Parts: sequence; C-alpha cells; structure tokens
Amino acid sequence: MKDRIFLSAPHMSGNELKYIEKVFESNYIAPLGEYVNKFEESVKEYTGSQNALAVSSGTAAIHLALRILDIKEGDDVLASTFTFIGSVSAILYQKANPVFIDSDKESWNLSPKLLNKYLLACEKKPKALVLTHLYGMSADIEKIVEICKLHGVYLIEDAAESLGATFKEKHTGTFGDFGVYSFNGNKILTTSGGGMLVTPDKEYRDKALFYATQAKEPFIHYEHTEYGYNYRMSNVLAAIGVAQMEVIEERVLKKREVFEWYKEFLGDIEEITFMPELANSRGNRWLTALTFEKTDYNLVMKALEEINVESRPLWKPMHMQALFKDAKNYLDGTSEELFSKGLCLASSTTMTKEDVKEISRVIKECL
Ligand SMILES: Cc1ncc(COP(=O)(O)O)c(C=O)c1O
Repeated sequence: MKDRIFLSAPHMSGNELKYIEKVFESNYIAPLGEYVNKFEESVKEYTGSQNALAVSSGTAAIHLALRILDIKEGDDVLASTFTFIGSVSAILYQKANPVFIDSDKESWNLSPKLLNKYLLACEKKPKALVLTHLYGMSADIEKIVEICKLHGVYLIEDAAESLGATFKEKHTGTFGDFGVYSFNGNKILTTSGGGMLVTPDKEYRDKALFYATQAKEPFIHYEHTEYGYNYRMSNVLAAIGVAQMEVIEERVLKKREVFEWYKEFLGDIEEITFMPELANSRGNRWLTALTFEKTDYNLVMKALEEINVESRPLWKPMHMQALFKDAKNYLDGTSEELFSKGLCLASSTTMTKEDVKEISRVIKECL
C-alpha cells in the first residue's frame, strides 16, 4: 500500500479550521473562551454526564481526580493491569501505591470477581479504583460499581479510549465518581492533545477547575494555600474538539464497521479470537484487537509492516513492567496470556473495505 495505514489516524470533520478562525477573530488564544465552554457542553450532552472540565490530557484528568479524592503518599489505589501507562502514572504522581487487578476472559477488562476477592481479603483497604475500558470496549461496569460501593472504594473510570461506548445505553465514564476521556492524536476523536474530566458532582468539578488553574484563591492578588497545576485546555484546541464532537456517532459507527469487515474476512479462522463485547454493551471498537492461538504475532506484524500497515501488540500488563516490579497485584494469568498472543490491527476511520480486505489477506498468508 502506498500511504501508510495507521492504527488510528486523526480524522477531521471539516469544521475544525472554521472554528479555529473564529477563535483567532475573538483573540481568545487562551485556556478559556467560548469554545472551551462549548466543548464541555457537547461532551456533557453526548455522554449524559452532569459536569465536565476540558483539560490538557487524559493523564491530567486522572491526576485531578486522584488529587480531589485526597489520594496521597502510602495510599493503595487499585487499577486494571491490562492497560496503558497513562491510566496509572498519576497514581505515582501522588506517591500512592498501585495495586493491579487482572482481566477476565469475558471482557478482557478488569475482572469483577478478582476485584471483589481482593477487597474481601486485603489487609489494607484501597481508597480508589482506576478502571480502564480497554480498546473502547466497556468493562463489566455495573458489577464493578456495585463492588466499589460495597467496599467504599471511589471509582475513576478511565474511558480515555472509549468515548461513545455504552453499557445498557449509559456512557462509559458516567458510572463512577469521575470519568476521563482522552483526545490524544490517536483516539477516536482528537484535539491533537487533550482530555476531559466528567463527574456527577458539581463540587468535584469546581475543585478540579481550581487545581487545574494553579489553585488560585479567590482574591484580586494571587493568594495560595495549596498548590495546583496548569492543566486547562486551550480555546484553540477546544475549537477542534467542538468540530470533532459533531461527528462522534459517525466515527463510532465507522470503527464498528471496520471491526465487522475484519470479522467478515477473518472470523471463520479457528485460531483467531476477537476482543469480546459484553452483552448489553456497545463498544466503540477504537482498535480491533485479536489473539492468535498458534501463530507468532511478530510474524504478522512484520508482514503488515512490509505493506506499510501499522499494528501493535496488546498492552503489556502493568504488573509485568519493571517500573512496577514491587507493586502489589492480584492475578490469574489472563492478561499475561492475552499479551503473549494478541495484536491490535489498523482501525482508522478513514480506511476502506478494500484496505481491510488486503490486510486480512496478508494476515491469512501468515497463518
Ligand atoms: C487507557 C488510557 N488511559 C490514559 C491515557 C492517557 O491519555 P492522554 O494521552 O490524553 O494523557 C490513554 C491514552 O493516551 C489511554 O489509552
């Protein structure tokens, strides 16, 4: 293939430049302005969340949530082990200790069973859980909410990859005390870089704004009793976000279509298993993820690279990372097995059925 096919390339709606021009006309080239408010409103309206704060990244949003929940040095914080580092790095910013919980085979996401078992058995009660909805697919969220309530654990949903994914028609990111979306360059929508923190609690949102804007106390001069961060989103990037939000449903449907094409071409191959979608949920299929029972995925990656197509191994579980060699964990081998067998396939919304057919042909040749 001539042009490289990326895992998930940015895909503009066509209105981005028009809105950026409006920002320039207004001269609000700042982390405040009309488009920051509009972007927050559009995410609230689409996801059904009550409060939203546009920030510089998904990682920043998770950090704000942890700070507001007063997670601090020595605290235990549960997290999905099968995730990207951005889910958990903010736990380290707070000098807290991550405790990694394994996935289940039904969802590839955090296992509610293991979570409950850990919470029943642990000596030190964790304060919060950072739960990832991996590759845009909803975790078994109702059960997880119930377990968190039962044990008095705050829930932060890392929906960085799952904007538009739902469970029983309720959006991922809106079940917990906080939800986080990412608008990084490879996400289903992008502002080039950015994030959104959502919460049902207005006080949390107010506090998040306070911390995201250097914790300035309400005086005319700058008065500080606490430290904050410079985490607010720029009005220029929010203008991109507003234009992107206009096509979110289109993008979800296209991602799902790309997945269906892969299933059509590869679905009858016995050694291939696609990431499952839980009953009553709708994933956004951000990346089509699969495992090979026999074939070494490195061979497949190499063959795809030869036709200029990007692919990537499934996330290496956090408990396997040298960074977390001393961290507590509660595992049953599921994520390690997935990691040893799995690959993410190119899933850009700009792809055609012909692209998917060609990629599938090359994969079949490797098997
Ligand atoms: C699961 C997950 N969590 C967190 C993040 C962090 O988001 P950001 O890159 O916007 O900081 C990402 C993506 O980058 C992600 O995929």
